[in-house]
Amino acid sequence: MTGEHGIPAGRLAQWLPAQRWFAGKDRPVDVVRPHEPTVLIEGDPALWHVVVDVVQGERVEPYQLLVGWRSGTPEIASSALFGEGSDRYEASGDADLTAMLLDAMAAGTRIDGLSFAAEPGEQLTGGLRARPITTEQSNTSLVYGGQYILKLFRKLSPGINKDLLLHRALQAAGCAHVARVVGSITGELAGEPVTIGMLQEYLPDAVDGWAMASTSVRDLLADPDLRPDEAGGDFAAEAERLGAAVAAVHADLAGALGTDPVDRAELARTVRAMHERLDQVAAAVPQLAPHVPALRAAFDAVGAADLPPVSRQYIHGDLHLGQVLRTVGGWLLLDFEGEPAAPVAQRHALQSPLRDVAGMLRSFDYAAQQFLVGEAEHGPETAARAQEWAQRNRAAFCAGYAEAGGPVGDPLAHAVLLRAFELDKAVYEVAYEHANRPDWLAVPLAAIARSTEEGEGSRDQ
Ligand SMILES: Nc1ncnc2c1ncn2[C@@H]1O[C@H](COP(=O)(O)OP(=O)(O)O)[C@@H](O)[C@H]1O
Ligand SMILES: [Mg+2]
Repeated sequence: MTGEHGIPAGRLAQWLPAQRWFAGKDRPVDVVRPHEPTVLIEGDPALWHVVVDVVQGERVEPYQLLVGWRSGTPEIASSALFGEGSDRYEASGDADLTAMLLDAMAAGTRIDGLSFAAEPGEQLTGGLRARPITTEQSNTSLVYGGQYILKLFRKLSPGINKDLLLHRALQAAGCAHVARVVGSITGELAGEPVTIGMLQEYLPDAVDGWAMASTSVRDLLADPDLRPDEAGGDFAAEAERLGAAVAAVHADLAGALGTDPVDRAELARTVRAMHERLDQVAAAVPQLAPHVPALRAAFDAVGAADLPPVSRQYIHGDLHLGQVLRTVGGWLLLDFEGEPAAPVAQRHALQSPLRDVAGMLRSFDYAAQQFLVGEAEHGPETAARAQEWAQRNRAAFCAGYAEAGGPVGDPLAHAVLLRAFELDKAVYEVAYEHANRPDWLAVPLAAIARSTEEGEGSRDQ
């Protein structure tokens, strides 16, 4: 059955969970309720903008879709078709249709509840065709003629999207470590404005941090005689620059959007939240059981000691090597939306900048360990060399951060808090890997084991 304008709500309930960007894979979809569509292109071909409410038990979350229709067979991936009996398809891959989104931003068009706008003072070049980026992520991004990248936020929440908010604030502060925002698309949801899309300058020659770090680890492991500091692909200088970039972003966010002091009550809430996450994950993943006492001790240490104060502020919230790009001019940070699974209120909550540092430190561990996953063959020397790579780059990152003088100064001066955040992140990874990639479970578990053994070692001394 098809509903309003032929949007097949019944089919969508099956189609949505198969999409990489669909964030509700933890529960079955009960029903999908389309809102009134906005007609973006009328005729043949046709394009509609549609918000659908996805109902999953008591959880109802809005997602946006571009819905296309044309006579004849559209030249799009078959996975874009909503399914049998429907001639409608997800149109983000249809360049004939998506061209209008940029043109509308260039012209400053308003169509029903949707406002297309260039940022103040920006002149946009229209008439470009778009292709979706192939590495599909939490959202859908379209690259226009190698010049612009338009991110269409899939899961919507009323208000200005945090990614756009932070990009604008950093840009206004003159921060060199973000890609320029040049336009946006805003809709309406529950009577409030909602960010539908963010247009940025596209950097065609950029390489992402994960790819660079992986190349470095691969080079190292390919030659058993090589040491991490000898490899031509040594990453440490980059890791140090990356640390400096993150510190600069933190400093600019603090300057632009303010900070909040952390009192003992706030610290106690943080510790409680870490224990709660551990309760949940330990109940689901039996392999975590042997580490629970040491993890609890590491979390409690945060509340126990008189630690050096660290304020809370806007942070990136989901920082890892896949969220940074190396351009000719230096490192850029991307995707300030925060943890995709976290509720909006939590994403906007002020947090310790050390959370971002912890996220990146975990990412160095993942980059080092990835080639050992599922490889029963590797000996202890290979594992030790991977570990050495991680240590070298983690240290370089922290040195770069400290040198640049971010809001927390030297991250290593906050060893107790940083270690707790890292372990908290690793507990989250345990849950994620257990649910999605059981082979990888060994990566966070080994990190937890190493850190808690070290912790016990240092207490014995
Ligand atoms: N300004 C840009 N220039 C070049 N590539 C970019 C740019 N912004 C994003 N990308 C690429 O698009 C990918 C997805 O962007 P991201 O903002 O992380 O979206 P998502 O929210 O879907 O994760 C990035 O990993 C990066 O490879
Ligand atoms: Mg991303």
